[in-house]
Amino acid sequence: MTQPIAEGECIILLDPTDEKEFFFKMRKGGHINLHKGKILHDEIIGKSEGAVVHSSRGNPFLILRPTLYQFIMHMKRDTQIIYPKDLALILVYADIYPGCIVLEAGIGSGALTLALLRGVGEKGKVISYEVREEFIRRAKKNIGLFLGDPPNLEVKQRDIYEGIEEKGLDRVILDVPEPWRVVNDVAESLRPGGMLLGYLPTIIQVKSLVDALREDRRFSSIQVFESLIRNWNIEGLSVRPFHRMVAHTGFLTLARRGKIY
Ligand SMILES: C[S@@+](CC[C@H](N)C(=O)[O-])C[C@H]1O[C@@H](n2cnc3c(N)ncnc32)[C@H](O)[C@@H]1O
Repeated sequence: MTQPIAEGECIILLDPTDEKEFFFKMRKGGHINLHKGKILHDEIIGKSEGAVVHSSRGNPFLILRPTLYQFIMHMKRDTQIIYPKDLALILVYADIYPGCIVLEAGIGSGALTLALLRGVGEKGKVISYEVREEFIRRAKKNIGLFLGDPPNLEVKQRDIYEGIEEKGLDRVILDVPEPWRVVNDVAESLRPGGMLLGYLPTIIQVKSLVDALREDRRFSSIQVFESLIRNWNIEGLSVRPFHRMVAHTGFLTLARRGKIY
């Protein structure tokens, strides 16, 4: 995207001295108060990405559009979200491809939905089931801020435990507490070769899901894994992992629709 920053867009201001990021939505007449001075939104609106803006105290800040990673980490959330390290794995391990039809539950704050919409592209479709209206509202706001109004997103206020209406789905991604309750419905709704992915915080939930998948006898290639990302500090002789890291988010369970007896 090369257009100038517009009103209503979200931007990142990057402080070059310590690489601290600040996230703001632009509105005409608005202002930003930072400890290094004040910046008017009107001084940012109309500038290009990569331009520099100076605060009232003369400090420079780089203007950037948020990446998907940055947007997800800064956006408002009312629920737990799937973090970018797991979203990255979901896109490849669940093989989300342009044109793919994916059903997800629930939409939560929309982090997974944003990643899926990117993966399926304009020719694909994301269908989201969510029971709570307020989360639908929050997710739609987040998605709107980053992507506008994607025509290939269909959000349904629906309890997935009551069944899945769609058939011939390519992928089903479940971020709900008891996905084992819908294994039969997922088997009925996935096309042959389609994939189910469950995202679960505890291994007890994973065990229940895997047991249900095996018992169903219509799934193969079941695998479970988690991801740990360890960032490194690279400064002078201090070349070592950071002391702190996110130790646990969730387990990913994958299964492929189809089995030979
Ligand atoms: C952890 S949040 C999902 C977060 C989301 N994947 C994200 O990345 O932002 C779980 C969501 O599932 C919804 N949910 C729980 N049970 C559900 C059900 N039976 N059917 C549909 N949605 C459900 C909750 O209301 C909540 O919004």
